[in-house]
Amino acid sequence: MSLDLSKNAKNLLENRYLRRNEKREIIETPKELFQRVAKNIAEAEEDQEKQNYYEEEFYKLMTESKFLPNSPTLMNAGTELQQLAACFVLPVPDSMEGIFNAVKNAALIHKSGGGTGFAFSRLRPQNDVVKSTGGISSGPLSFMKVFNSATNTVKQGGKRRGANMGMLRVDHPDILNFINAKGELNEENQELYDQFETSLEETYLKPEIIDEELSNYKEKLLDKQFSNFNLSVAVTDEFMEAVQEGCNYKVVNPRNGQVVGELDAKKIFKLIVNYAWKNGEPGIIFIDEINRKNPVPNLGEIEATNPCGEQPLLPNEACNLGSINLSQFVKNQKVDWNALKDTVRLAVRFLDNVIDMNKYPLSEIEEQVMKARKIGLGVMGFHEMLIRLGISYNSEDAVEMAKKVMEFIKENAHQYSQELAEEKGAFPAWEESVYEKPQRNATLTTIAPTGSISFLAGTSGGIEPFFSFSYTHTDGEGNVSTFEYDFTEEADTDILVTTMDIEPEWHIRIQAAFQKYVDNAVSKTINLPYVASKEDVGEAYVLAHELGCKGLTVYRDGSRGSQVLETNKED
Ligand code: CDP
Repeated sequence: MSLDLSKNAKNLLENRYLRRNEKREIIETPKELFQRVAKNIAEAEEDQEKQNYYEEEFYKLMTESKFLPNSPTLMNAGTELQQLAACFVLPVPDSMEGIFNAVKNAALIHKSGGGTGFAFSRLRPQNDVVKSTGGISSGPLSFMKVFNSATNTVKQGGKRRGANMGMLRVDHPDILNFINAKGELNEENQELYDQFETSLEETYLKPEIIDEELSNYKEKLLDKQFSNFNLSVAVTDEFMEAVQEGCNYKVVNPRNGQVVGELDAKKIFKLIVNYAWKNGEPGIIFIDEINRKNPVPNLGEIEATNPCGEQPLLPNEACNLGSINLSQFVKNQKVDWNALKDTVRLAVRFLDNVIDMNKYPLSEIEEQVMKARKIGLGVMGFHEMLIRLGISYNSEDAVEMAKKVMEFIKENAHQYSQELAEEKGAFPAWEESVYEKPQRNATLTTIAPTGSISFLAGTSGGIEPFFSFSYTHTDGEGNVSTFEYDFTEEADTDILVTTMDIEPEWHIRIQAAFQKYVDNAVSKTINLPYVASKEDVGEAYVLAHELGCKGLTVYRDGSRGSQVLETNKED
């Protein structure tokens, strides 16, 4: 057993993962944590002999740093909570009862450590009729505020801040307000801003100082708007074509399906691009591509993803994720494919067991999850793997390696899921699915951000390049830690590129290469330099759509006040 944890990883485990008693005292060691998780997940096996065997195997899998499941599994497996999934999507129906039910359910999910995604596209637009009261409706944006404040009050299992994804279809009548939601002051905040401006004007401060105070205040107010949400516009193929052709597209009231007007596609696209350029939001998802690749179309249409965008799900569906640490599979500058294959197979069994061991927060969710038994096996440490192989992230070789490694993982994962179907049965909705042969899980692969687990494993996050080889990380709770990667001493300095050395096109091509072999979606940020233009952002969206990505998130360096990762000053 090689539980080789860095000081940072130990701190993170102590702060957020290790079990505590009522007095908040830590009552387990890191070793005991992995024993607890391995034992609990192996309990899904049918007899004692298999349970003992897999407990040992799962323990080695995690402590040899080959694979880690998502945070809720590490935190909750074998505890009273027993909620193991990171990703949920909840329906938001167009009724008061439905909306507030979703608020309540989201709170329950956050409390258990999961993140929630919602499509607000079914809600009738602002100022539309409300039959029961004869009044007018408030619209998606005002209801989203309720979700946002509810999230503020519930910390995820007391361990992380609640995360939401809010989506609106580009053909919803309130799309303009949605796109502006984080970039322009809402009514209440505009009032506060105006009051502040008046009070400043009554002082004898110099005009440039007043301007600076006002601009800081505006930033502060904007920061609080939908601060618990990631926002993404669900764009359609029809919309993307209209952008290319420079024509209008139809806007539809979801209450009755009636076309209520048209919008200029280019103008809307420009607006999205402008805000994304300004502060990284809204992101976009390509909703038609997501549904084209839906493996069980009979179960319904996908409208939304989880908070970080990597997991499109049906309403009331949940998914658990886990990631293979690719940096562990390089031997003498070559990929150890045999070892990788063994790990893929064991990881699939692990994640499939998680479905059965999970205590779902709602019965509707349990029912939906059991129909398709989706899991999301992904990777972390891709960049570290490239460096160990002597490959630069911004190169054709890297794109080829991305395809090769993910194709290998996908094929072996599906193969093992077929074997599991023989042993334990296929997912119940298999006959109506796109698969010819029975398999145990409707989806197998997802690329998660691995924000916390890559930190535990001490490697680069997901498929992202290293931001720097020495940096300071501040988590959501304000805990600061410093990182220093020393493996670079042996590496050829030509290939030691970091995020900002890499052209946006390479970021997108790596994302697309992985997406080709990922059943669900890929979490990736397309980093642009501070000097990037709005046109660069627009081109990135068009390229991502052409290359078959399911969504895109861009971030222009320095465009947001506080950044999660900051390069150490001495670099
Ligand atoms: O590394 P870890 O397992 O903690 O999570 P991740 O890979 O960074 O994020 C995976 C998913 O966990 C996200 O897409 C969210 O659905 C969920 N999550 C959350 O609910 N709240 C957070 N603060 C972070 C992640």
